[in-house]
Amino acid sequence: MTDKELYFEAVKAMENSYSPYSSCKVGAALLTKSGKLFTGTNIENAAFGPTVCAERVAVFKAVSEGERDFFKIAVVGGKNGEINGIFAPCGVCRQVLREFCSDDFEILLGETKDNFKKVTLKDLLPISFSPENVQ
Ligand code: THU
Repeated sequence: MTDKELYFEAVKAMENSYSPYSSCKVGAALLTKSGKLFTGTNIENAAFGPTVCAERVAVFKAVSEGERDFFKIAVVGGKNGEINGIFAPCGVCRQVLREFCSDDFEILLGETKDNFKKVTLKDLLPISFSPENVQ
């Protein structure tokens, strides 16, 4: 799967966003090293706290299906589903990615509906706390 195809999977995942409180639609598409795709979208809750981000939905779907070796992820979002610049992963999602991915893990960040910027996990989470710290 090309980066562009992965990015469009994230854009497609936005359609299922359940976001009646923020109206922010977010999509994530996670590609494993074995070539499997897991998508996610944000799922909000009236109690606010139980809301889960798109990235974590994708990661937890994969892990619960026995996949932990991740190749790259695409993330895209915007108010009312309009993609007007980067909708960067929150701090919690960065830390969850760091649990399973190394510093050079690639993250495609949507900028427009057709274009994305490629960064690494280290760019988003420098000097990270990681599983190696606990081993
Ligand atoms: N959101 C994500 O899905 N991913 C992020 O990394 C940032 C925030 C969602 C959560 C909530 O539904 C909405 O965006 C506004 O915070």
